[in-house]
Amino acid sequence: MTQITFISAAGEEILIDAEDGDTVMDTAINHDVPGILAECGGACACATCHVYVDEAFWDKVGEPGEMEESMLEFNEHRQKNSRLSCQIKISPALEGLRVTSPESQY
Ligand code: FES
Repeated sequence: MTQITFISAAGEEILIDAEDGDTVMDTAINHDVPGILAECGGACACATCHVYVDEAFWDKVGEPGEMEESMLEFNEHRQKNSRLSCQIKISPALEGLRVTSPESQY
């Protein structure tokens, strides 16, 4: 288990014990976290699982892959710490991870 905090665009926090090996998106969907829609079910094809990764975890989470980058490229809400949560796999290295959903996903 790895603890992850989901933060809404309004600043409300939800702390979850996430299963290692799941993605951040899986965790959000399994726990009914608002603000992560995941319309494509994790196929890296919709970008409705977009999150902003807390700067303290940016190095651990890493850069988007090529396919993810192409989905983020034209997203008007993109910031430098943007990732698609279906492409972030949970592991103990991410203990304490904090991600915020963009306002556009509510
Ligand atoms: Fe569709 Fe992540 S769930 S891109």
